[in-house]
Amino acid sequence: MKTYKVIQWATGVVGTSCVQSVVRHPRLELVGAKVYSDDKAGRDVGAIVGIEDTGVIATQSVEEVMALEADCVLYCPLPWKVEEICALLESGKHVITPCPYYFPFLQNPEATAVIQEACAKGNTNFHASGCNPGGIAERFPLVFSGWCNRIDRITMTECGECTYYTSEGVMRKLMNLGKTPEHALRNPIKMALQKAWNEPIDMIADGLGTSVRRYEAEHDFILAKEPIETAVGVIEPGTIALNHYRHIGITDAGTEIVQEQIWFVGDRKQEKLERKMDVPRQSGWRIKIEGDVNLEIDVDFPSELSQDQRVAQGLSTTAFHLVNAVPLVCDEPDPGIKTYLDLPMITGCMGSGPSVRS
Ligand SMILES: NC(=O)c1ccc[n+]([C@@H]2O[C@H](COP(=O)([O-])OP(=O)(O)OC[C@H]3O[C@@H](n4cnc5c(N)ncnc54)[C@H](OP(=O)(O)O)[C@@H]3O)[C@@H](O)[C@H]2O)c1
Repeated sequence: MKTYKVIQWATGVVGTSCVQSVVRHPRLELVGAKVYSDDKAGRDVGAIVGIEDTGVIATQSVEEVMALEADCVLYCPLPWKVEEICALLESGKHVITPCPYYFPFLQNPEATAVIQEACAKGNTNFHASGCNPGGIAERFPLVFSGWCNRIDRITMTECGECTYYTSEGVMRKLMNLGKTPEHALRNPIKMALQKAWNEPIDMIADGLGTSVRRYEAEHDFILAKEPIETAVGVIEPGTIALNHYRHIGITDAGTEIVQEQIWFVGDRKQEKLERKMDVPRQSGWRIKIEGDVNLEIDVDFPSELSQDQRVAQGLSTTAFHLVNAVPLVCDEPDPGIKTYLDLPMITGCMGSGPSVRS
């Protein structure tokens, strides 16, 4: 059975789950780990992520990682850099990432061009995906679109109670939680985020054989009126405790594609917030398709799970997708950017026997 050498790039919440999953995967071998923090450098990456030693010592050196012989890099930093992605691809390593560029062809033509060029030089593939964007935002709606004929609207809603998300960067920089509305509106990452949510909209439109003629974006914030304790510190009164984002694409075929996120801290009753909105669930996702077939697909965690377990499992779905995609992305012929529209079905791998695809 063919096996693949994997490097883990960054060991935050998603990266940690990736490492734990790579070492369990029967077809993958962990051969390197790039970290940023001084306290992680020089340690066995197994100890960093709370498992048995792996024999792989984490390094801060980009040069050392680039020089390693490996099939694939699971690239999970925050922030991400297109130059780093390209250097890895050019060095002959496929790259799989939860960061953009999910379907970059229209929103990020410059990044598309340099990534495609790097893939051609290194004879490698690039795949960006995860849970959302990745699964909820485009993969599952596209799968269910196969049950439909005319589609008027597709709405993907994420309800994320983030109180226990331990990534300071994602919580405060990407989600603007704990920031003032003025800061959020000036946040330099705002445009990048808008593009990141328009990319899955473009992928759905492309999958439906049409294209987007108009994009819209709606952002609403609700502020905390009392301090709210979270895994990354206190969200102070007067700062953002709930973010409601809607990114919308209207296609030439008349279909409205809506990516909606409700990210919040505290609980769904919103007692500590200055005003309340209708938050349909504590966590999880709804995909709603309206047309000649009407579907509501709810994806959630069992109610017996605690909120911190739900957050952890939600982030693991992203990591596990990346890890499970390794063999397929590495084996895909014709170097370049690979989306769900190019790749075969990505399944789990329990290692019970040789895969029929090997
Ligand atoms: N598509 C999806 O569904 C999805 C879901 C969740 C997250 N994401 C994306 O996945 C990425 C990782 O998320 P996460 O939750 O794991 O975040 P995180 O816990 O904050 O991890 C990010 C890691 O980046 C590294 N880092 C620190 N300083 C850095 C710098 N200056 N430049 C680059 N990297 C630096 C650190 O690695 P070390 O700790 O090893 O030093 C840090 O742990 C983010 O970009 C996030 O947007 C996507």
